[in-house]
Amino acid sequence: MPQFHTIDDLDVAGKRVLLRADLNVPVKDGKVTDATRIERLAPTIETLIAKGAKTVVISHFGRPKGVDPSQSLKPLVGPLSRAIGGKTVHFASDCVGPEAKKVVDALKPGEVALLENLRFHPEEEKNDPGFAKELAALGDLYIDDAFSAAHRAHASIEALAHLLPNAAGKLMQADLEALGAALEHPQKPVIALIGGSKVSTKLDLLKFIISKVDRLAIGGAMANTFLFAQGRGVGRSLCEKEMADTARDILSAAEKRGCEIILPDDAVTADKLEAGVMTRTVGINAVPVDAMILDIGPDSVKRIEAALAASKTLVWNGPVGAFETKPFDRATVALARKVAELTGEKKLLSVAGGGDTVAALGTAGVEDKLSYVSTAGGAFLEWLEGRELPGVAALSIK
Ligand code: 3PG
Ligand code: MG
Repeated sequence: MPQFHTIDDLDVAGKRVLLRADLNVPVKDGKVTDATRIERLAPTIETLIAKGAKTVVISHFGRPKGVDPSQSLKPLVGPLSRAIGGKTVHFASDCVGPEAKKVVDALKPGEVALLENLRFHPEEEKNDPGFAKELAALGDLYIDDAFSAAHRAHASIEALAHLLPNAAGKLMQADLEALGAALEHPQKPVIALIGGSKVSTKLDLLKFIISKVDRLAIGGAMANTFLFAQGRGVGRSLCEKEMADTARDILSAAEKRGCEIILPDDAVTADKLEAGVMTRTVGINAVPVDAMILDIGPDSVKRIEAALAASKTLVWNGPVGAFETKPFDRATVALARKVAELTGEKKLLSVAGGGDTVAALGTAGVEDKLSYVSTAGGAFLEWLEGRELPGVAALSIK
C-alpha cells in the first residue's frame, strides 16, 4: 500500500486548493439520478471550508469530444451546493484560462468554486503537461478525491499531482484504506465473490485474485464457462467456449496456490431470460440441453453462505445471476443479505464495488450495510487486477 499525505498534512488555510473530484454522476433530463458520489465528496469540501481554504473543484463529466454544452458540469452546481449544506458554489465556464482565473481569484477563504468539465479540453485525456501547468496555476495545493477515476492517467489526475503539494481527500483515503484492509493486509481467511457475464473481461482479475485469497466463489454467466471447461453440459447458457483452456488454467493455478474455487452445485434455469418466466432448478450435472442457466441455485447459495461465515474478509464484484430480471435476482439478494448480516455481527469485513454490484446491493436493500461499497467501477476492477492506478501512484510518497 503506497503511503500518501492526507488533508491534515496540508496547511490549507487561505490557500487555493484544487480538489479533483469525480462528479461523473448519472444525470437524466438535467437531474442527478444518483448523488452518491456527490454526497461522499461533501466531507472533504466541508473540511476544507472549515479550515478556511479556497476550494476549487475540478472534474470530468461524460466523454465529450471537445466543448459540448450537453455535458456541462453546470447542472451539478445545485446538487453540490445542497450536499454541503446549501453553501454557495461559484461556477466558471472553463476550467483553465481567464474565465477560470477570474472566478478563482474572487474566492475568499471558506468559499467554493466548481470549474467546467475538464474533458472539454482534449489535453486532459492526453495527460498533457502544458494543460496540467495551466490547471496548476489556479491552485497552491492539490487534493485528489477521485479514486473512481484513478485508473485514468489524465492531466488533472496524473501530471497535475506532480506540480503541487498533494494529498488524498477523505473519500480517496477511505477508498484506499478499505481496499487495503480487504486485499493488502486483510484478516484471513479471505474470500472473493466474483460474478458477471464474461470470463474474458475479468481474466486479469481472476488470475490476480487467486494469488490473494483463500477462497474464490464464482457465479454469474462466467461460472458457465468454468462448468463447460470441466466437461459439464450448460445447455443454451451464455458461455465462452473458446475460453475453456483459460478457465482450466485458472482452476489448476488456483489449486497450486491453495485457493479453493467454489463453482455452482445447482442452477436455476429457464427457456428464456424474461421476468416471471417458468424456471427449473436443477443439479449442475442435469442442466437441460435446451435451457439456460440464469442464476445459481439454493444449494450453491448455502455453500457460499457457509464459506462466507468461515471467512473474515470478503471482496465482492459482480452479481451471481441475471439479477436485473426477477426471479433471477434471488441468489444475489440472498448472498447480499447474508454478507450484510455477517458484517453487522462484526464477523466479516466486506468490501464491494462495481456498477452492477452496487445496483444489486440496492435491490437487496443493503447498500449501506457492508463495511465499504466503492462507487468506483473501472478503477475498482483494475485494482482487483493488481494494477498500479496512475491516480494512486501519483499521490504516493516515495
Ligand atoms: C467512472 O465513472 O467510472 C469514472 O468517472 C471514469 O469515467 P471514464 O470511464 O469516462 O473515464
Ligand atoms: Mg466508467
